[in-house]
Amino acid sequence: MKVLLVGNGAREHAIAENLARDCELYCVMSKKNPAMAQLSKDYWICNIEDPVSVESVIKGKDFDLGFSSPDATLAAGVSDVLEEHGMLVASPSKAASRIEWDKSYMRSLHENYHVGGTPKHEIVTNIKDATRVIKDYELVAIKPLGLTGGKGVKVSGDHFVNLDQKLEYTASLLEKDGSALIEEKLIGEEFTLQAFCDGSSIALMPPVQDHKRAFEGDSGPNTGGMGSYTTGTNLPFLNSSDLENAKKIIQDAVYALKKDGHPFKGILYGQFMATKESVKLIEFNARFGDPEAMNVLALLNGSLTDVFLSMAEGQIHPPTFSSDCTVVKYLVPDGYPTEPKKDLPVEINGAEIEKTGASLYYASVYENEGKIFTSSSRSFGILGRAQTLDEAEKVAESACAYISGSLWHRKDIGTSALVERRVAHMRKLRGIE
Ligand code: AMP
Ligand code: GLY
Repeated sequence: MKVLLVGNGAREHAIAENLARDCELYCVMSKKNPAMAQLSKDYWICNIEDPVSVESVIKGKDFDLGFSSPDATLAAGVSDVLEEHGMLVASPSKAASRIEWDKSYMRSLHENYHVGGTPKHEIVTNIKDATRVIKDYELVAIKPLGLTGGKGVKVSGDHFVNLDQKLEYTASLLEKDGSALIEEKLIGEEFTLQAFCDGSSIALMPPVQDHKRAFEGDSGPNTGGMGSYTTGTNLPFLNSSDLENAKKIIQDAVYALKKDGHPFKGILYGQFMATKESVKLIEFNARFGDPEAMNVLALLNGSLTDVFLSMAEGQIHPPTFSSDCTVVKYLVPDGYPTEPKKDLPVEINGAEIEKTGASLYYASVYENEGKIFTSSSRSFGILGRAQTLDEAEKVAESACAYISGSLWHRKDIGTSALVERRVAHMRKLRGIE
């Protein structure tokens, strides 16, 4: 089977590694990911966010199955181009992925089809309304309606300390986009639940906790995600009804999209907050999470190619997963996310990394004359896998030492101390002593 994969980050490296086990893999990338190039039978470089460029590089070639991975490619309509080209497609159309790229569509879809878990929110188009809503909610999250790579959201307490700062940020969004989304600030613990979807049915992956904040102890600006962990069928701070409620929200959203005329085939990623009362939905993404894809794909039993094919055919074969734990740590350039130092060389000691048992995924780095250099985004994902979280964390942490250069990472991700804090936080919120 000939499979075409669009994308070139660490998440796509993990997808490519799984697919290449039992298919002939071809990749379209915006920059050469050296590891993905090695896994592919052939690859092409073009602007993957431009469907016309993608079409021009695959013209005259035949593929059985296609998967376009990053959000911006979905929003640009790359899945639709793959379908027009005549292959089966396992990623969502532009219309279905609107659930990610247009938060006002997502919120109105949920309202029209009674999908639960929606926080209090309002979309504002002028500063007078913004002032009223901000004063009414007091603690808020303010965000643009479109794609921002996880970096456009600002939250009371973390980023704003007074009304003026909230209004100033809202005014900047109004000036740029003409609108802004203001939500009540949710208090609780965040988690990611991803599902394979075939247009009607869903098959869940193990839940994951990502870490959006740049610095240890969850401080600093939002990033694309600094690392993540999974602990098998449930996370230590969730109960089984949290997971059931999140599953229902995903299933209901898939029904809603079908009823709205845009059946969703692909990966639906729910970003949830477990709060004192219930599970709330922060947002949907129409793709695998990055880093979460690495956590779950390492645990997938069987063939990802088969799951993708069954999704594309509208009759999903639900996969099973190992109950092992995984920890991913992202190595990022010095200065990331605000002033990343790019174009600096890094040295990878592959033999030592292999000895630790960790897996290395290439993200935003590039190769020049046989050397690897940083760019302005996250550089490498390092994955540790073991039967316990503690061991998985130690595997990932030990491997980080074998990549040298102007890079740093969060050492606290996946540690028992951090996870115990999450559990204590949830117990306190729920009044359990
Ligand atoms: P998003 O781009 O919507 O995924 O948001 C990025 C991050 O901002 C999330 O991972 C949360 O940590 C935070 N965030 C977004 N919306 C809210 C909210 N309503 N309440 C609290 N935190 C939020
Ligand atoms: N890990 C966050 C995201 O993929 O959006």
